[in-house]
Amino acid sequence: MVRGMILGTGRCLPQRVLTNAELEQRVDTSDEWITTRTGIRRRRIAGPGETTSHLAAEAARRALEMAGMSAEEIGLIVVGTISCEIAMPSCACLVQRELGARRAFAFDINAACCGFTYSLDLADRYVRADPDLKVLVIGAETLSSRTNWEDRNTCVLFGDGAGACVVGAGEGGAGVVASRLHADGELWQLLYMEAAPSMNPELARPDNPGPFIQMAGRDVFRHAVRSMAEVVGEVLDAAGVAADDLALVIPHQANIRIIHALADRLGLPADKVCVNVHEYGNTSAASVPIALDEANRAGRLAPGDLVLLCTFGAGLTWGAVLYRW
Ligand code: UT7
Repeated sequence: MVRGMILGTGRCLPQRVLTNAELEQRVDTSDEWITTRTGIRRRRIAGPGETTSHLAAEAARRALEMAGMSAEEIGLIVVGTISCEIAMPSCACLVQRELGARRAFAFDINAACCGFTYSLDLADRYVRADPDLKVLVIGAETLSSRTNWEDRNTCVLFGDGAGACVVGAGEGGAGVVASRLHADGELWQLLYMEAAPSMNPELARPDNPGPFIQMAGRDVFRHAVRSMAEVVGEVLDAAGVAADDLALVIPHQANIRIIHALADRLGLPADKVCVNVHEYGNTSAASVPIALDEANRAGRLAPGDLVLLCTFGAGLTWGAVLYRW
């Protein structure tokens, strides 16, 4: 049976590191609060030229290099993002141009922090239908451009970066084993970002504060733990495997307390759970592919390993992908 198989991974992080100590100078917060409530110690913030599409293209270049492939072999580029430097065309089209991936069609997925899992699920389905297709799947964000730097509730949480993988047809068991995706638009107001103010006066709202992230953190936290635990259960059931069978879990990196609560519910030991939230904060759609590339390059994944990716974000959206390395 053909499955979407990861042929190479890559990541790209901006140079500049923003520490909790620096944030103490900007808003009424403390390193102690940020560290104990979120686990975040520092994050990367994009500087000149480090746009979302550039970070995405650089991560993709590294994934292509690992796969031993050229950009011209890519037939589809999917970018999970909510923070491209332009609203139209898609970030994927900018990546296609920067890489010279002339044969690829290209589009973005807006599933917030679930952008990568949604995109990987989609790539898997494309590849099953067309086994010759090679897909670049990317999660890339510069949420620093969408952050209200005077709002301590959100500005300490997010960071910038990109992660990518090349997906092609795999046989012999390696690849996406099962995936489950969900959304509940009834809860959109728990976590959202306004668009630019409307140029149509009939649609303009004076209460639009601008395109900043707004979040009811405590409610989102509650939903995150419950929904991710549920969807992991669904995907394990679908594949007929148990949590004990997992070699590695790569959860969305939003808050160390969410990750620990999820690991507790699944009964997973700490060494089976990838954590880098202390280094990069919440990079939204980029968090899982960045962690996946780190795990891959660190040799934490062996052929045959079962790897579980699970995410949660605005929408609300949530999902899990079970993958055999
Ligand atoms: O990636 C998409 C998914 N996003 C998430 O999963 C985020 C989920 N939510 C969270 O991670 C947590 O809810 C937060 C980290 C956002 C907040 O942590 P919390 O433990 O839920 O804190 P809280 O919102 O209940 O706030 C507790 C207190 C409040 O003060 P009072 O009202 O108790 O006096 C806040 O004003 O902490 C205060 N607070 C801060 N204090 C210092 C909020 N932000 C800060 C801050 N520094 N940066």
